[in-house]
Amino acid sequence: METLRLEEQGGIATLTLDRPKALNALNSQALGELKETLQALAGRDDVRALIVTGAGEKAFVAGADISELAQLSALEATRFADLGHAVMAQLEALPFPVIAAVNGFALGGGCELALACDFIYASEKAKFGLPEVSLGLIPGFGGTQRLTRLVGRARAKELIFTGDLIDAAKAKEVGLALEVLAPDQLLAHCRKVAEKVATRGPLAVRQAKRAVEFGADADLRTGNELERQAFAALFGSADQREGTKAFMEKRAPAFTGR
Ligand code: CAA
Repeated sequence: METLRLEEQGGIATLTLDRPKALNALNSQALGELKETLQALAGRDDVRALIVTGAGEKAFVAGADISELAQLSALEATRFADLGHAVMAQLEALPFPVIAAVNGFALGGGCELALACDFIYASEKAKFGLPEVSLGLIPGFGGTQRLTRLVGRARAKELIFTGDLIDAAKAKEVGLALEVLAPDQLLAHCRKVAEKVATRGPLAVRQAKRAVEFGADADLRTGNELERQAFAALFGSADQREGTKAFMEKRAPAFTGR
């Protein structure tokens, strides 16, 4: 891999977009490598959480690669958007929690990448935005949809129509980022949250993610039915028996993911 790095420690994987000279912009090579990496991660039972971040001091990901966008025909742009959408959908569909550690600029496709994660923690240096209208474009990797669902129509429209960048404090205020951390604390905070998740029942965390994800796009009745089935499906698993037994025996559970 030339455009990203994958490191793993104790069930926590960290994926770092690594093209710092182009502020980690997503060209087709980066999207292709992301696709391959996410496909491999999706089948891994031993991964408990993924952290996504950007290399260098300045950027998470500054968007789709504009030098590549500048050359595209309409047909090629369709293929580029298809690939971007497929990668964001893959990220969103990972069975374990995915945390975006936004360390700097998260613009355009970079903001869309963060939006496809389960939640976002931001460094004080982070800047978010969907500035595509400044380029005569609109967001092309799901930003009009995921931002709207997260922060509401009016706020999403304001950000998309103006193309304005917002800082980390504003991102927290509008519900885009959950917390704002000092730059040197960001990854440590994300790891701490990921490690806590990794101590919980892995099958339960996966089922909880499915219930929230699929339920979010459904009506309440359907969402509650999904939850009911996911809840029942956990009974009979070794982890469910271990978790309840450990509580009764006043000890920490030893989950095995089975
Ligand atoms: N694509 C390609 N290269 C990029 C890039 C991008 N999105 N963003 C930054 N770079 C490159 C710059 O061209 C520059 O390269 P050179 O050193 O070779 O000139 C290098 O990264 C450093 O950037 P700057 O010199 O511009 O750094 P700065 O501190 O002055 O500005 C910035 C930082 C405000 C983030 C500015 O780089 C910028 O505005 N970048 C573009 C942001 C943007 O518009 N993103 C949306 C892209 S379109 C999109 O993403 C569509 C979609 O939804 C899929």
